Amino acid sequence: MFETPDAPSAPAVLPNPLREGLAEERVPEPAAMVIFGASGDLAHRKLLPALYSLTRDRLLPARFAIVGFARRAVSDEVFREEMRAACNEHARRRPIDPDLWSAFARNIFYQQGEYEDPASFLALKQRLADIERTLGLHGNRVFYLATPPSSFASVIRSLGEAELAPKPPPLGAPQPPGAPPPFARVIIEKPFGTDLETARALNRHIHETLDERQIYRIDHYLGKETVQNLLVFRFANGIFEPVWNNRFVDHVQITGAESIGVETRGGYFEQAGSLRDMVQNHLLQVLSLFAMEPPIAFDPDAVRDEKLKVLKALRYIPASDFETHVVRAQYAAGSSGGEAVRGYRQEPHVSPSSATETFVALKLFIDSWRWAGVPFYLRSGKRLPKRVTEIAVHFKEAPHLLFGRRGESIRPNVLAIRIQPDEGIALNFGSKLPGPAMEIAPVSMEFRYGSSFGVEPPEAYERLLLDCLLGDSTLFTRADEVEASWAWVSRIHRRWAEETASGAGALPTYPAGSWGPPAADRLMTADGRAWRLP
Ligand code: NDP
Ligand code: BG6
Repeated sequence: MFETPDAPSAPAVLPNPLREGLAEERVPEPAAMVIFGASGDLAHRKLLPALYSLTRDRLLPARFAIVGFARRAVSDEVFREEMRAACNEHARRRPIDPDLWSAFARNIFYQQGEYEDPASFLALKQRLADIERTLGLHGNRVFYLATPPSSFASVIRSLGEAELAPKPPPLGAPQPPGAPPPFARVIIEKPFGTDLETARALNRHIHETLDERQIYRIDHYLGKETVQNLLVFRFANGIFEPVWNNRFVDHVQITGAESIGVETRGGYFEQAGSLRDMVQNHLLQVLSLFAMEPPIAFDPDAVRDEKLKVLKALRYIPASDFETHVVRAQYAAGSSGGEAVRGYRQEPHVSPSSATETFVALKLFIDSWRWAGVPFYLRSGKRLPKRVTEIAVHFKEAPHLLFGRRGESIRPNVLAIRIQPDEGIALNFGSKLPGPAMEIAPVSMEFRYGSSFGVEPPEAYERLLLDCLLGDSTLFTRADEVEASWAWVSRIHRRWAEETASGAGALPTYPAGSWGPPAADRLMTADGRAWRLP
């Protein structure tokens, strides 16, 4: 059993059993991380707390600086205090350790500036050079774009114009003697585009300044331990891969349910909707890891090549199948956690006549030898009864039943991979009930991260920030993957736009706190199946 250290002033370095088999433990080179959008929500709730937790686990290099960049004029001291409060509220292990914080905070700086202003970037360049000289950082840099998506292109252009992120030498070019040149990497938040055309345009634009090897498009689901464990589960065990195909699998359900509503992000969500917000990125990424062929190595291109094939093999849903394959809906007033909650249209920054979906359910097929004929059912929504992300693999029934009465069926096996919360894996199967009769009852074999390893999994952002510092882009999405998933999703959006233009396809509602509209159930019952209650 591993234990969480209870003396916060002496952070012990524990081996993390969840990382075993995935990547070597390496310590990144000294570096500076510039966070554009440092006064924003993401920086407060996720980024600084993740960097603090990495420091606590001694996974960051001893020489490491954080430079926050945003519009507001605040001093380094005020920014450090704000970040201290943010870490105290959001870091994985709280309260924060005062001694550790003092050392960590000494290397946090703030630089005021505007994304569109070249002078701000020249000032940043000068400030970075000063910090790097003082701390002996050798010029390695990571730029984190926690900015509004509309600013991704202009920030990257400004980085290029200020010569802050030079391209690495071409692959295969002879290495000059001496130490390798410092690296400059750029992490880009989501959403990456709003459809296929905008994603392509953004890729074209950033490739004018950056090489693909410098670009880290973040999808925080790929940083979740349980999502990474899909790879270990499938490819480090010999017994699952033989049944991971259409001979044995009847269908697969992927659920990404949230109990929260849109909270303060109504303005953003109005433009996005569930299909863009959750399916195009998180759920399709999970699907591609679940369904891909074994990669030839655990390296960025080998893994992403295989994921890409899955995304390219997604069958387009023809207009004639829309009614039976695609469901969208919006939450109306209802209840959550025993309290009455308002409907989506009454949320702040949401139009009272909004036609944005907060729930989507889809039936899709992957046209490959492995998955031919196996339906994948995906659903995602806000204000559902609980927060749960799960993949449920429903296996085919035994071909010939020896037990039970004629015509009776035994419940087929289900492998449920729980991504969050209560991370773990459960296999349901039939077992004989004790007694004289051959009666069968469903039972479950369970693995839970918490009880098996006794450690809490790290936050997704911790893993992803560390991987970027290490130069490992396996868990980041490549340009072609993003475009392939948009190509599939954009067709659905286009169809919805046609429906709206023709006055058809009125958006159904579901009461907050329910599992979506009746049409989502019909999508399953029409196939003689039902959603699993996660
Ligand atoms: P916020 O609106 O909270 O923060 C935006 C930040 O950008 C602020 O620091 C703001 O600075 C700064 N900023 C905006 N315009 C300019 C400008 N012209 N020049 C300089 N600074 C500017 O956004 P979030 O933190 O919520 O989101 C950031 C990114 O992360 C977005 O791409 C979002 O889609 C993505 N994301 C966010 C999630 C979340 O939970 N928040 C989840 C997943 C992705 P100032 O305060 O000075 O105005
Ligand atoms: C974000 C979406 O990418 O993921 C949010 O923009 C959503 O709308 C969030 O709430 C869900 O992430 P998690 O890690 O809480 O499942």
